Amino acid sequence: MAKYQELVDQLKRQIQSGIWNPGDKLPSLRKQSEYTGVSLMTVLHAYQLLESQGWVVSQARSGYRVAPRVKTKHVQPPHAAVSSIENVDINEFIFEVLQASKNPQLVNFGFAYPSPDLYPHHHVTRAFSSAARNMPISNTFNNLPPGNEQLRQLIAKRYAARGVEISPDEIVITAGALEALNLSLQACASAGDWIVVESPTFYGALQSLQRLGLKVLSVRTDPVTGIDIDSLESALQTHPVKACWLMSNHQNPLGFTLTDEKKQRIVEILNRYNVALIEDDVYSELYAGSEPMTSMKMYDHTGNTMLCSSFSKSLIAGLRIGWVVAGKRALDIQKLQLMSTFATSAPIQMTLVHYLTSRNYELHLKQLRKKLAERKNKVTERLREQLPQAVNIISQKGGYFIWLELPKQLDATDIYHAVLKENVSIAPGKMFGLNDQYNHCIRLNASFELDHQRMRALDILASSIVMQINGAQTQ
Ligand SMILES: Cc1ncc(COP(=O)(O)O)c(C=O)c1O
Repeated sequence: MAKYQELVDQLKRQIQSGIWNPGDKLPSLRKQSEYTGVSLMTVLHAYQLLESQGWVVSQARSGYRVAPRVKTKHVQPPHAAVSSIENVDINEFIFEVLQASKNPQLVNFGFAYPSPDLYPHHHVTRAFSSAARNMPISNTFNNLPPGNEQLRQLIAKRYAARGVEISPDEIVITAGALEALNLSLQACASAGDWIVVESPTFYGALQSLQRLGLKVLSVRTDPVTGIDIDSLESALQTHPVKACWLMSNHQNPLGFTLTDEKKQRIVEILNRYNVALIEDDVYSELYAGSEPMTSMKMYDHTGNTMLCSSFSKSLIAGLRIGWVVAGKRALDIQKLQLMSTFATSAPIQMTLVHYLTSRNYELHLKQLRKKLAERKNKVTERLREQLPQAVNIISQKGGYFIWLELPKQLDATDIYHAVLKENVSIAPGKMFGLNDQYNHCIRLNASFELDHQRMRALDILASSIVMQINGAQTQ
């Protein structure tokens, strides 16, 4: 397709989906040419064609605007394509939910990590004691940022086995993925800058943005196909965005995985706008089937992407070991780490080295993936039996989260409070967005064995949902 026609189609889609409203001024020819990487003549040609078809109007010395009565396909888009929030204020509610989930009596479907019975406790404990026995006196210095060299090599080798070439020098070992993500944010943005996230997104991202005083552009994201590319581009065109914090594999909370084509497009777009990509990739080991996941980082040859991951979801969360493949910001990130946590725990880094060299991590992962798929299927089946059609159960391949969309008028926070009284916990949708858009949704952790107690807990949740739906219908 000719380049001008691609631009015409793209702008029509953006107008139809409400990104540009009647009367809005389109980017100038020069700006549009910079954004899209096509020539000024191509942009002019596209704008003129849109004008001849009645989509835009040109005004002397003021450029092109969307025509006043342009026909849009969706009169009311389901959600704003891009929402901008200058003051993030989410921490109180998340803190409340996380505090309540500490009760040991709870059946915690709101938990963010895989069921602890899936961790290879025995092997990790053995690796921990060998690490302690063999710890050299110089260990503190060997494990300063960027972190234990052997561990960085082992991580780089695992990427190489998936066809991703990463130098151990690009890797910085951190306290879990969360430290990696926070350092990445700090390496490319300062208070007051705009950051793009998916809508809905992992609440940890919202908390980090709040803590660092960053402004948020939350971009429309489909539960199955992921972030909407046109909306993403529009966010980049309309705001001076510094970074995008995105998940491409088994996104939390929705569970989708982006196609390789989309991963590549996102990298191209962000590089074109010179916007840093923070790739939050903590679930990529938890795929269903036999094909390993790709990452967005593998399509980036400029060093602009910071790929963050950890052993928290695939081995043991409590070890708190993660990493960032930091590209051109590797040194900046090391400096930031030296100024904040100083270094990642030396004995724990060495435990990982012992575990990865003496135990069969691949076999553990294979068993973990199989168990997760079985357990998720069982929970999904049970939910399908128990819940009415009005509830949309989104349970995708891989990972362990299930996303429930209840009828829009319901508030899942009420359900959260109701089931908590019966020692059942869930992650209400409010945790994953900034403007009440997901208040009718629930994220469930399906990594637990569905024994008698959990089956009962799931049924308590299902009855509470049914009661709310029935109550709403009689009002
Ligand atoms: C999407 C996402 N990123 C990052 C993290 C944090 O990972 P870690 O425990 O390794 O810090 C989580 C944990 O729930 C997560 O779901």
